[in-house]
Amino acid sequence: MTRAFAKVCTGLALAVALTAGTAVAEPSHAVPWWKGAVVYEIYPRSFQDSNGDGVGDLNGITARLDYIKSLGVDAIWLTPIYPSPLIDFGYDISDYTAIDPQYGTLADFDRLVAEAKKRNIRIVMDLVLNHTSDKHPWFQESASSKTSPKRDWYVWRDGKGPGKPPNNWQSVFGHGGWQYDAKTSQWYWHKFYAEQPDLNWRNPKVAEAMYNVERFWIARGVAGFRLDAITTLFEDPALQDEGTVKDASGKPVINVFGEPQLDDTRTNNLPEVHDVLRQVRKVADEASGKEAVLIGETYVANIADLKKMYGAQDDELQMPMDLQVGFINKLDVARFRTLIADAETGLGAHEPLLVLDNHDNPRWDRYGDNVHNADIGRVLATVILGSRGAAMYYYGDEIGMVTTPPTRKEDVRDPVGVTGWPKEKGRDGERTPMQWTAESTAGFTAAGVKPWLPIPSSMTLTNVASEESQPNSLLAWYRQLGALRKTNAAMRDGDDVMLNTIDAHVLTWLRRAPSGEAVLFACNFTAEPQKVGFDPKALHGYATNVTALMNTPGQVAPSSLTDIVLKPFGVIVLQLH
Ligand code: NOJ
Repeated sequence: MTRAFAKVCTGLALAVALTAGTAVAEPSHAVPWWKGAVVYEIYPRSFQDSNGDGVGDLNGITARLDYIKSLGVDAIWLTPIYPSPLIDFGYDISDYTAIDPQYGTLADFDRLVAEAKKRNIRIVMDLVLNHTSDKHPWFQESASSKTSPKRDWYVWRDGKGPGKPPNNWQSVFGHGGWQYDAKTSQWYWHKFYAEQPDLNWRNPKVAEAMYNVERFWIARGVAGFRLDAITTLFEDPALQDEGTVKDASGKPVINVFGEPQLDDTRTNNLPEVHDVLRQVRKVADEASGKEAVLIGETYVANIADLKKMYGAQDDELQMPMDLQVGFINKLDVARFRTLIADAETGLGAHEPLLVLDNHDNPRWDRYGDNVHNADIGRVLATVILGSRGAAMYYYGDEIGMVTTPPTRKEDVRDPVGVTGWPKEKGRDGERTPMQWTAESTAGFTAAGVKPWLPIPSSMTLTNVASEESQPNSLLAWYRQLGALRKTNAAMRDGDDVMLNTIDAHVLTWLRRAPSGEAVLFACNFTAEPQKVGFDPKALHGYATNVTALMNTPGQVAPSSLTDIVLKPFGVIVLQLH
């Protein structure tokens, strides 16, 4: 991941519901459903168009549930589907309790939840608490006059003088974060686009309105929320300027928008965020009978900060995303080892959720070398799905869809790309339509229809239909890993111990189930063959007889733990017995 804004966005959420009608009706278990779950992120505009308008929709997703099930997915995270002017493609919400007509209706949503439930798949909604659209009636009313009863629902302040905003704070999406309103001669704060005014979370009425949104969707059967930008809910009430970030030589760091990078200390991760998270959790727990899960978009600096997002009393997020692996951006064994070990040892009993890819950052192919990409895709899939905890991946990762950014400024749809061009091309490249077939519209929309973003030319080889016919495809690899997570005790319940911790080429780890079963993973992170040896004493008493569960195509499956040679970017998964 490389985007500047990603470093400051935080948040996520989720929840599960047990309400009449559309609710998930399974009984509560001692082990919550989300422990070890596979969560599949869908960008609904780009997954499947069912009505030939070039935009993906809810009925399209429903039609693809069997495919999603075949991946071993337990929950789908839908990026926002609420009515929206679509300035930020749904993250600017104008009505929190309805569906944007482009995506369908509430009845379509209910059908999706019900059909998913039949397949034991839960639906997690995206919940944007930090800001609304400027077209939301709350903001329209707030902006109407200084004495509006909703004035204090947003963050309005006087400027420092004519044309001068209240302070130096910037928008994550580039340039100043204060927008002047001529009608009332004040400025409003927007951490993201000007069309996304920040709500004032110091106003209890705002909080209550949002808790009602949670209740609404849980009653409709959603299994939880991914809480958007959750660390940005509060700003310093004293409005102090933020500091500038300096490089090693003391010079200010300039961001992709050509401005000094600010340190984000007054507008991100303020302690009050935790008060809100506790409340959001309480509401979710009450409304769902403790079935709902809250996933957080939590860009934080280290594992200690991530741990705080679970709450001191385990009363905040159940699954704040661990996004650090996504910033390694190269196949650096030591770095992966450290971060995965951190997740294992630094979160106490909490559930880790390693995340590599999403709709805001270039896809997995940023790790590719254009020679061994399919095998590199297998390495990354194995890291994400073979490590302990829940796992999340982004639609299309499973077939190896690659980042396909626009090549001309006039084609850019994401305003981040418009503001940041050419240095920052925006996020269109990772939001292109799902590649189902090799037909001209990739099976995403009807023949002859122009999709909202162009279909990448890679679709001729990289598509679901062709990979389903190849037993050695990346898709087959994802399906195998997904299936093993369900059936293999060590992959399901095992802890995660790093082995060969000074090996600079191969990442090796052991999953040990309480039942005594163990599975060993080894991934070659290099383009050369690598020998792997194991010290039996380091295997924690496990037997050294092996059965190969999975190996990269072309990789010789080992019959013992001695003399293993991994092919370039080769992976082996071995059951020990
Ligand atoms: C994070 C979301 O993932 C991103 O897509 C969005 O632009 C910002 N939050 C603002 O809501």
